[in-house]
Amino acid sequence: MNALLEVDNLVVDYGRGRTAFRALHGVSLDIAPGECLGLVGESGSGKSTLGKAILGLAPVTSGSIRFDGQDITRVSGRGRRALADDVQVVFQDPYGSLNPAMTIGDILAEPLLTTGIGAKAAEAKVREMLDRVSLPVAAMDRYPSEFSGGQRQRIAIARALVRGPRLIVCDEPVSALDLTTQATILDLFIELQRDTGVSYLFVSHDLGVVRRVCHRVAVMYRGELVEVGEGEQVTRAPRHAYSERLRLASPVADPAAQRARRAQWLALREVPDAAVR
Ligand SMILES: Nc1ncnc2c1ncn2[C@@H]1O[C@H](COP(=O)(O)OP(=O)(O)OP(=O)(O)O)[C@@H](O)[C@H]1O
Ligand SMILES: [Mg+2]
Repeated sequence: MNALLEVDNLVVDYGRGRTAFRALHGVSLDIAPGECLGLVGESGSGKSTLGKAILGLAPVTSGSIRFDGQDITRVSGRGRRALADDVQVVFQDPYGSLNPAMTIGDILAEPLLTTGIGAKAAEAKVREMLDRVSLPVAAMDRYPSEFSGGQRQRIAIARALVRGPRLIVCDEPVSALDLTTQATILDLFIELQRDTGVSYLFVSHDLGVVRRVCHRVAVMYRGELVEVGEGEQVTRAPRHAYSERLRLASPVADPAAQRARRAQWLALREVPDAAVR
């Protein structure tokens, strides 16, 4: 099957001249229709930068991004607004990403009204979206501050879905939530993908989270992808030393197992970045 998203040898530099910083060093990956590709890596490795580049929000130096066969690397203005039908985003912070002065009904209707749809049809769509993310219709008349973090993330997801996108960039969408809420929101992502066939680029620093929702997982290290593979394999038996360090750095509940992990992690810190399997 043809890829929905194809990123080829992407280089992103922030700043210019002596202060220039290369955040992505030639990253290549693809995402199939209906696929969830996880993107893991330590803080500052370039995960959000890749997501932003796809959304047209990062300065691309070279390489290309193709969506459904079309080059979207440097699309801006009207072309970028048209792309909002197909490519959407859910951020980590549902507080910062929802306008506190707007009702939920207006927040969800806004992306629709720019498409020229009538107010009645927009309202019907908003009701449908609230139902889809398991929020009551009464939420329409309320403001973001009246909802919990998990509910707010449901609203952000509904807003991302309202125009029927084919790809959603999810940047740490559950990292601000407690574990129980995380689980229900992850289930929602899985269910929506099953029902709509939408693809996800799912950024997270948590291997357990990506294992749960992702088909494949890519590991980013200092602006390069060091490993891409099946979710189970990459998160449980990675081939690259850096991915293994990432695995050992994620905590486990049993204290004895945790001590053993920490010792392994410390030992691996000394190993050069190479294949461990
Ligand atoms: N607008 C910017 N200007 C300059 N440097 C930036 C900018 N945005 C990001 N960077 C730098 O690029 C690198 C990658 O940042 P990025 O936000 O992509 O990392 P990340 O993997 O998403 O990290 P985190 O897990 O903390 O969110 C970091 O060194 C960061 O300091
Ligand atoms: Mg980030």
